[in-house]
Amino acid sequence: MNSEPIYILGIESSCDDTSAAVLCNGKVLSNVVANQEIHTTYGGVVPELASRAHQQNIIPVVQQAIQKANIDKNQLNAIAFTRGPGLMGSLLVGTSFAKSFAMGLNIPLIGVNHMQAHILAHFIDDKNHKKPPFPFLCLTISGGHTQIVKVNNYFEMMVLGETLDDAVGEAFDKSAKILGLPYPGGPLIDKYAQLGNPKAYQFTKPRVGKLEFSFSGLKTGILRFIQKNVKENPGFIKENQYDICASIQHTIVEILMDKLKNAVKQTGINHIAIAGGVSANSEIRKVLKEAESKFVWTTYIPKFEYTTDNAAMIGISGYLAYLQNKFSAIDTIATARLKVTE
Ligand code: KG4
Ligand code: ZN
Repeated sequence: MNSEPIYILGIESSCDDTSAAVLCNGKVLSNVVANQEIHTTYGGVVPELASRAHQQNIIPVVQQAIQKANIDKNQLNAIAFTRGPGLMGSLLVGTSFAKSFAMGLNIPLIGVNHMQAHILAHFIDDKNHKKPPFPFLCLTISGGHTQIVKVNNYFEMMVLGETLDDAVGEAFDKSAKILGLPYPGGPLIDKYAQLGNPKAYQFTKPRVGKLEFSFSGLKTGILRFIQKNVKENPGFIKENQYDICASIQHTIVEILMDKLKNAVKQTGINHIAIAGGVSANSEIRKVLKEAESKFVWTTYIPKFEYTTDNAAMIGISGYLAYLQNKFSAIDTIATARLKVTE
């Protein structure tokens, strides 16, 4: 067996976070994330501004990641980068940088699927995190995706069900926008929900297939509810902000849990992981923890820093690919639309 340490540089630039990480044999030595504040004022990510910010951030972020890892760039064994899915302009910045850096260092390049990476973050070597055994189910919940994935192996995944319209992160962000909260609204709804009553208001849950999700109806329901109440009382949102947030969050988490229960019933698999930005949500984390004793599930909840977009998850995917000699050609292209199975 090769006892030489394997150093992988991971680069993530699919949306509005520029991130670089260095991993050694699957352990994270550094994970630097530069968030782009610029989108807050626009109520969502502006693609052109995102790619410009990535261009400004990419070199200092990579430099910091290498410095923090306390290694020399010549020690790197491979460079892993997000090849998709994501915003094309954003992906191109990471892809071009990764290609030229790998060429300059004369080391292999590994293109990583962002959605697989969210799931593979569970395999980061960390003494405080247990790794799920195959096969397991992963509820992938982010700003762009909502899926229940059956994970048979590191790179062998199957989508059991997904959203027919909006992603769950969008449901959080759009609800927040209706309430006049800045982007991204998910973390703020989570924060305010902790001070409110989750049963204060009831919202109708969607009627779709057992493993399918739909959030556009919920968003419209919330919009109508707010418009109606604000008409009667212009101070309605301010006066009831915490209860509204708690009720929205409670409804969303109930929808997610209902689907997970259906998936467990259908597959007989009770090793359940969550991944993606929305897995940072304190309510889903709490409810899943409780499910361990309530439903005899074993649950895998990622460390907070590996929930929202980060390069450590790209680095671990790169490391696992490296061990299987899965390298990408230098003419690999970024792909805006990419399924978790591709
Ligand atoms: O995975 P991610 O960083 O980017 C995508 O690949 O989409 O996910 C971002 C999403 C946003 O919609 C954000 O509002 C949501 O994750 N999010 C949360 C929380 N933290 C981030 N949603 C609910 N509660 C949170 N604590
Ligand atoms: Zn993501």
